[in-house]
Amino acid sequence: MPDAIHVRLDALASPPPTAAARDSAAADELRAAWRARPNGRTFYLETFGCQMNVHDSEKVAGVLFARGYRQVDAPDDADLVLYNTCSIREKAAQKVFSRLGQVRGVARDGKVIGVLGCVAQQEGEQIFERAPWVRLVCGSASYRRLPELVAQLEAGDTRVTGLELDTDETFETDFTRRDNPFRAYLTIIEGCDKACAYCVVPMTRGPERSRTSESILREVRGLVELGYTEVQLLGQNVNSYRDPSPARLDFAELLEAVAEVPGVRRVRFTTSHPRDFTPAIVRAIERQPALCDHVHLPVQSGSSRVLAAMRRDYSREEYLERVAWVHRARRPISLTTDIIVGFPGETERDFEDTLSLLDLVQYDGAFSFKFSPRPNTAALRMPDDVPEEEKGRRLAILQERQREIQQARNERLVGQRLEVLVEGRSRPGQWAGRTSSNRMVNFTSPEPPALGEYREVVIHRAGPNSLVGEAVI
Ligand code: 5AD
Ligand code: SF4
Repeated sequence: MPDAIHVRLDALASPPPTAAARDSAAADELRAAWRARPNGRTFYLETFGCQMNVHDSEKVAGVLFARGYRQVDAPDDADLVLYNTCSIREKAAQKVFSRLGQVRGVARDGKVIGVLGCVAQQEGEQIFERAPWVRLVCGSASYRRLPELVAQLEAGDTRVTGLELDTDETFETDFTRRDNPFRAYLTIIEGCDKACAYCVVPMTRGPERSRTSESILREVRGLVELGYTEVQLLGQNVNSYRDPSPARLDFAELLEAVAEVPGVRRVRFTTSHPRDFTPAIVRAIERQPALCDHVHLPVQSGSSRVLAAMRRDYSREEYLERVAWVHRARRPISLTTDIIVGFPGETERDFEDTLSLLDLVQYDGAFSFKFSPRPNTAALRMPDDVPEEEKGRRLAILQERQREIQQARNERLVGQRLEVLVEGRSRPGQWAGRTSSNRMVNFTSPEPPALGEYREVVIHRAGPNSLVGEAVI
C-alpha cells in the first residue's frame, strides 16, 4: 500500500490544538486537498460498539472523504446514511433495527441507507428482508471493497453487499479521518481465532490477520507528524499479533518498536486475551516509559468451571498467574477487565468465585455485563438458566463491590503527582485529561493549559471513577 494519508477531524474543521499539528505540512496539504475535492454528496455515519468499530468508522469516513463526500450531522441532510453496528449483546443489535425504522421515511427521498459492521455480517441479506429500504450491507471483513461498493451505488445499483469472511487481508485506507484529536487509534490485527462460547466476534470479524510491522510503524510516524503523541494499538486479541513481514516481530517487540518512534509519548493497547499474554509484555512495559502502565485483561469469570464452559482456555489459577506477573512489575501497572454474569450454568458459588477474584486482583476498572445469548455461538445451545432478575442482582452486587475497590485504590493516589494529557475542559476553570494508567483527572490550573499538553497534577480528592487535583507549575 502507498504511504497512507491520515487526517484529524480538527485538522479539517478548525486549527489543531497542538503547535506541532498546526505547523505540520501534512495537515496543510490535507486541508487544501479537502477543500478542493467536494463532489456535492454528503454522508451521515453513526457508530455503535467497541473501539475497533469507532476506528473502522474513521477509516470508512476516510474512504468517503477521498471520494469527495462531506460529513453531516443528521440523516435528513445526508445522501448516504450509514450505521456501523455492534452485535455483541442483543440490546446493541436491536438498537440498529430501531434506527433503521426511524430512517424509513428518509429512505423514500432517494437517500441510500447502509448497514456496516457486525450486525451486517451476522444478519447478512436478511437485513434487506427486515428493512427493504436498506441498499448497502457490508461486514467489516469486506471494508476493503467499500470504494467499489459505493461506486456501484453511485452508478445506480439498488442493492449491494460485501459479506465475505474468508479474507486474509486487513482494512488499510489511503485516507483516515480521525475523530479524537489526542489519541490516535490504529489497528494491528483484525479478526479472532478463539472460540469463546458466548461471543459473536469470530463470526462477525473473521479469522485473525496481522498487519506488517513496517506498515504499522509507518502509520505511527505519520501520526507523530500530525501532532499525535498518544497512540492506541487495536485488535480483538493484540497478544496473538504475528508480523507477516520478514522482521517477524512478536507483540512485545512491536510494542517496544512503537514506543521508540521519536515523538511518541504514550502507547496503549487493547484487548489482551489472557491465554496469549506473556511476561515479555510486562518486561516491555517495565523497560519503556512510553508504554502506558495499564493492561486490560478480560477475565469474564472467576470460576474455573464457568471459564471451561466459556471455552476461555485458562483456569482461575492460570489467570491469577498472569495477574501476578503484572503485580510484580517494577512499576505499578493498572489492571482493568471485562466480566459476564449469569453465563449458562453459573451457580451462586461460581458467582462468589468471581467476587473473590475481584478482591484478589484489585482491578482499577471493570466493564460488566449480563450474559446475552447470541446467534451462531456455542452458548446458544446451552440453557440460559439464570433468570433475568438474578442476572441483574449479580450484576448490581458485582458493580458495587468493584466500585468500593476503585474508590479505595484511587484514594491511595491522593497527594501523588501524576502526569496528565490535557484533553479538554470539564467545566469553566476546570480541565480534564487522563493519566498513563487511563484514570480520568479533573483539575484546576493557575494558568490555562493548552490542549494536547502534558501536565503534572497533584491529586487532592478521589472518587471511584475519577480524580480531582491541581496542576503544578
Ligand atoms: N453476553 C454478554 N457479554 C458479552 N461480551 C461478549 N459477548 C457477550 C455476550 N454474549 C462481553 C465480554 C467481552 C466484552 C467486549 O463484551 O465481556 O469481553
Ligand atoms: Fe461489537 Fe464485538 Fe463487533 Fe466490536 S467486534 S462492534 S464489540 S460485536
